[in-house]
Amino acid sequence: MRSKSLALIAASTGLALAMTACGANSSSGGSSPSDTNTNSASGGGEKVGVILPETKSSARWEGFDKPLLEKALKAEGLEPDIQNAQGDVQKFSTLADGMINAGVKVLIIATPNSEVGAAVAKKAQAQGIAVIDYDRLNLGGSSDYYVSFDNEKVGELQGQGLVQGLEALAAGKKPAEVIEIEGAPTDNNATLFYNGQQKVLKPKYEAGDYKLVQSQPIPDWDNQQGGVTFEQILTGNGQKVDGVVAANDGLAGAVITVLKKYGLNGKVPVTGQDATPEGLQAVLRGDQFMTVFKPIDAEANAAAKLAAALAKGDTAAADALAKGSVQDTKGNRAVKSVLLEAQLITKDKVKTVVDAGFVKASEICVADLTAACTELGIK
Ligand code: BGC
Repeated sequence: MRSKSLALIAASTGLALAMTACGANSSSGGSSPSDTNTNSASGGGEKVGVILPETKSSARWEGFDKPLLEKALKAEGLEPDIQNAQGDVQKFSTLADGMINAGVKVLIIATPNSEVGAAVAKKAQAQGIAVIDYDRLNLGGSSDYYVSFDNEKVGELQGQGLVQGLEALAAGKKPAEVIEIEGAPTDNNATLFYNGQQKVLKPKYEAGDYKLVQSQPIPDWDNQQGGVTFEQILTGNGQKVDGVVAANDGLAGAVITVLKKYGLNGKVPVTGQDATPEGLQAVLRGDQFMTVFKPIDAEANAAAKLAAALAKGDTAAADALAKGSVQDTKGNRAVKSVLLEAQLITKDKVKTVVDAGFVKASEICVADLTAACTELGIK
């Protein structure tokens, strides 16, 4: 079991982390090599570099992580520089070099693959810069801390969502035919999501309740390619499918576009993840059966609190925040972690996501969805 040491859930869904910057002190802070830019609007403190992995794999990175990290880091009095590598590992390295040269105290990285993450961490640490793996763990890397969700549990929620969806939409169909459209093979999270899903689905396949048509990882989580791949599998199976595991809302959207073409949308449960506005709308419409709500504000806050402690060189405070642990299966080491909890969102739970302030009702309750929103009390 790869992630048996996904150990500690540090906070509950949608709530502030039960953590404080206790014990923080600035005794070992040291001075910043090139701290010339003290922009008052940005907190004016130590520089922290953030590199996000892509824009095309999910609406989350630019839509949620970027603004939430910016806000959280500034609230800690830090000066963030947040960039996106657009899925380009070369660009990732170049951005990291620029930040290292600019004198960041801490680097927060969510990488397109572990190799570039490991290389960047090594380089940064050689300059005395602390590194936090954000959302995605870099296998074989050396980052100091990891902040994410319990990603195997996220996969389990997707598996449970599919089971619920098949009960609702394909009751009595045996075996129910399932297609799995998975995340990038280069993203450790995709492996964890898959492992979690299989905890729920494997017994169903083995019992003959469900039949796996095909399981296909999608390089770079490329949503468009996900749609093309799904259509090939669907037509190869005589246009028959009863349920679809789509590893995130972006892939789910691509799957739904194909299902529409064959008149199957709304009849086939499709899973998702990220509670993006588009994903939530598809859930309200009944085209997508579920999504997973990962409160990215809590993830951003946890990363910012860790960064604040590390910018002061206060590893004791950082350790007090990162009480969990995740096993790097390649590097064979335990990485100190903050792991947050996610929540399964079906149509009746979309309100939870709005009430948590994650998305606004005005973002999703438009056009054809106003009636559904009223009915569900979403405002
Ligand atoms: C993240 C997901 C996201 C996916 C594609 C994963 O590592 O955990 O939230 O949907 O990458 O960007």
